[in-house]
Amino acid sequence: MSNDVQCASGAEISCGEIRSTTTRRSLVLRGLALGAAGSGLLAKAGPALAGSPTPALATGDVAILRFLAAAEILESDLWQQYNELGGIHDREVPGGGGSRAYTEALQVLDEEMDQYIHDNTEDEFSHFNFINAYLVSTGADPVNLDQFRTLPSSRAHGARQVGRLTNLMQLTVDTSYWTRYRSRTNNPDFGDAFPPAVPDLSKGRFPAIPRTDADLSPKNHLQAIANTAGFHFGFIEQGGTSLYPQLAQRVRNPEVLRVLLSIGPTEAMHFQIWHDKAGNAPPLTDPTNGLTFPDLNAPPFGGEDFETSLVMPEPTAFLTSSLPACSIVRPTETRGAAMAALKSLTDDGLFIGQSPAFFAFMGQLARAADAA
Ligand SMILES: [Fe+2]
Ligand SMILES: [Fe+2]
Repeated sequence: MSNDVQCASGAEISCGEIRSTTTRRSLVLRGLALGAAGSGLLAKAGPALAGSPTPALATGDVAILRFLAAAEILESDLWQQYNELGGIHDREVPGGGGSRAYTEALQVLDEEMDQYIHDNTEDEFSHFNFINAYLVSTGADPVNLDQFRTLPSSRAHGARQVGRLTNLMQLTVDTSYWTRYRSRTNNPDFGDAFPPAVPDLSKGRFPAIPRTDADLSPKNHLQAIANTAGFHFGFIEQGGTSLYPQLAQRVRNPEVLRVLLSIGPTEAMHFQIWHDKAGNAPPLTDPTNGLTFPDLNAPPFGGEDFETSLVMPEPTAFLTSSLPACSIVRPTETRGAAMAALKSLTDDGLFIGQSPAFFAFMGQLARAADAA
């Protein structure tokens, strides 16, 4: 970790090479940086007084916040697409007109699905707006991904025709979170792997929203799309559930830690809801492509590993096998967490069609966060 600070223009200033300027802001930064030099006290700047700007942050804290802001922008983009077609459109989450048939297929999983989708979407926008505004309040640069909003929208009735950051029409959904949170012995932080709940979803590329109105029939094709969305919701939110505690371990400023510890658990609240709803996805085979959703309560599934009612995390190995099992978020290993999150979203197919510049930009943010 370095003692660098980020100035109002976004340029980094090393504590040993403070620029000789005479602005009030630079003097504040100089005082903070000198006070921190050799003692690592930047992290102890404390919470900002009401109405006053937050003190400048260490470079690593800024990098972590910037990666999280980008992740939240990506989440907002995908949730917005779900909300346009399957959620509720109001002042809180405007945009889109809804696809009645898709909304009803989602409601097979729970009649309140449209409300949950709406609320999850609103939360993601609040996360990215807050983190970006917080960055600005410290004199750091916010994250803007607008130049990468180039992917096509669904052509189905109800979707807006605007450029998107994420692609929900060719997903390869990793559903191993299902068995990971049911295991009483294994933990991904020990290198353990977990079987997927829906093996087919790991093998092909499937839409989680109707691509056009032609996807609204036959009935089991549309239900397979809604089921895919149901499992994808859990996949996305379990990622956030791990990412915040993973990155929080390397934050230095107590207020930045508070930001991460206050947002992260809301991702877990989302995950818990979606984990429960995915279990209601009806077993079926899509007649157009063979995608099969198994009955998770019947052999060869069922039992402790698959039973749909077992949505609370089972206690499992944590830190070392000599300690007792503990009910925990998993994984929480901090090394390489941002790059792992980016890889997981990429493997999910969310960025199919994105430009090399997008991957370069996201990779840069992730590497900087992992270097904190
Ligand atoms: Fe979020
Ligand atoms: Fe989220």
